[in-house]
Formats: sequence, C-alpha cells, structure tokens
Amino acid sequence: MGTDTSRIRDALLAWYDAHAREMPWRVAPADVARGVRPDPYRVWLSEVMLQQTTVAAVRAYHERFTARFPTVEALAGADDAEVMGMWAGLGYYARARNLLACARAVAARGGFPETELELLELPGVGPYTAAAIAAIAFQERAVVVDGNVERVMTRLRAIETPLPAAKPEVRAAMDALTPAERPGDWAQAVMDLGATLCTPKSPSCLLCPLHDACEGRAQGIAADLPRKAPKKAKPTKRGLAYVAVDPLGRWLVETRPPKGMLGGMTGFPTSEWGDDPTPAPPVAADWREMGEVRHGFTHFELHLAVMAAETDRNPERGHWAVPDPDTLPSLFGKVWRVATKRPA
Ligand code: ADE
Repeated sequence: MGTDTSRIRDALLAWYDAHAREMPWRVAPADVARGVRPDPYRVWLSEVMLQQTTVAAVRAYHERFTARFPTVEALAGADDAEVMGMWAGLGYYARARNLLACARAVAARGGFPETELELLELPGVGPYTAAAIAAIAFQERAVVVDGNVERVMTRLRAIETPLPAAKPEVRAAMDALTPAERPGDWAQAVMDLGATLCTPKSPSCLLCPLHDACEGRAQGIAADLPRKAPKKAKPTKRGLAYVAVDPLGRWLVETRPPKGMLGGMTGFPTSEWGDDPTPAPPVAADWREMGEVRHGFTHFELHLAVMAAETDRNPERGHWAVPDPDTLPSLFGKVWRVATKRPA
C-alpha cells in the first residue's frame, strides 16, 4: 500500500469523524468505533430510497416508514396499497414494489443476508445497494460506487475518460482506496465529500481534506470532471389525464397496472401515452380542457392535457375515492393542481 493511499484514507476518515452528516439511519463514526452497528433494515430502506433521490427528500419518508413499520417483518406484513401510498412523491415506483417483495423475501429467510453476494440476490438490490449495505451494516470491504463516488474518484485521480466508459477505472480507483477497517465509514465519507464539498459545479477545493492529493485539482480540471458522453435528447410522449369529481366531492381514480410507468400507483385515469394519443375518457361527462402538465421521466418527457368534469354518471374505469393529494405520485399532484387551478 502506497503512502498516497494511506494518506488519502486517513485524511478523509478524519474529516468524516469531524463532519459526517447526521442521518436518521446512520450511526455516527464515534459510535461505530465503540462497536455500535446500524440496523440493516434501516440501512437497506435508506439505500433503496436514496437511489435517484436526494438525502433531503428521503429523510421524512424514512422517518415515516420506520415509525409505521419498525422492522422488516412489520413491512413484510404491510398492505401493498398503504405502502404504495406512503411512497407517493418519491418517484421510481418500481422501487416500492421491489421494496415489499424484498421485505417479504428477507422475512421469509429469517433476516437480512450479511454478504454482498447474497444481498445481490434480493429483489430490487443491485450492485450499488448490495455493496452499500454490506459495507455500512456488516462492515464488509465492499466497493461502493454511486454518482458521488464517481465524481470524487474521477477528480482525485484525474480520470478523463467520459462516463459511462470510465466506470471500470472509477471502480478500480475506489477499490484501491477502500480500507478493510471502517469500510462503511469510508464509503459514506466519500459520498458525504461528494455531496458537500466535491459538488458538481463549483467544488470547494480549499476546504477539501484531499486538496493536496487531488490530481484533478493540481491539473486545474477538477470542476470539469467527470466528463460525460453526450446525452441523447429525450423523446416527448403525449396523453390526456381525466380529473372527474362526483356530487359528493370524491375523485375518480384508478390503480395503474403493476407493470409499466407508475405501476401499482393510484392516480387519475389517463389515455395511452404516445405520439398521437386517442382520447379515452373514463366516464361520460362534459369534459373541459384546463391546461397542460409536463413531467420528466428518465427516458422521456410527458405532456398531459388535463381534462376536468363534474359528473354523477357511473364510470367505465376506476373508482370514486376520498381525495388525498399526499398519496398521489408527483405527476398526478401536478394534474390535480391544474384541474383545480391551485398554485403549486
Ligand atoms: N447516498 C446514498 N447512501 C448514502 C449514505 N449512506 N451516505 C451518504 N450519502 C448517501
């Protein structure tokens, strides 16, 4: 092991000891050092929630979930619709379906597996999540690579290969630095550095514990890394969304099929989404167009014309439900605000 490696490890772990962000699922480094171990259930839940989502957004969801379902067994016994409703607003709803499948698989086998390889076999647990849980909850020397780690490693080692081609180099750089002692603290230290100082646009190099070791900074290119292959433009899909209200003030909602976008979530009925959607009103009514909602998904941009009506007719699809905007995916929250002309 080169002195460069141990200097980087020591500097970053010392920084983490002083500056680790407090998170509801985390055990502070001083407590980890005393042998306190994080609850694998809380770590797993946080890592699933944090895929594609910021710590700021996840915090309140994590607190609500662990208050309602304190153990993986409690979550395994939960009602699917309640869990989908509690997930509303976090996005990437396949995660919520996998969350339940995973909780049930873990409960059935009597607890979380403790190695990266076995964790990888669980539903919804990919390479990043398996490595993160193994390192953080079980102190395995797993190599944890997320977007923060990619940014920190490409800068620290001045890796100029564009992502995603740079992934093997990034992984090798993180592997070479990951210590056998404190692997969970190490992974979280790199992530915290990426989230707080080694930020995408203007990194705070003067405050960085890796200032002297950083090759990207020495070459004056840190802020330009990681380089990225040009993104393909997202296609646009169009559709119509239907907000019907009955004389009791109830909404016409529909549970979406389990496969496909927003699968398993409850929302307002929509037409198919595509180039030239055919109107598909779910109930006979005098529909008025209230405006348009735009929503970005990972692989396309959706434009929905928002139709609204009051009606006492029986719907052809969906069911009447008492309104609760908090259980709607963000897309349908936007639809509802346009339909009722409420500001965001
Ligand atoms: N992002 C995802 N998981 C994280 C963690 N455990 N610490 C900091 N940032 C994270």
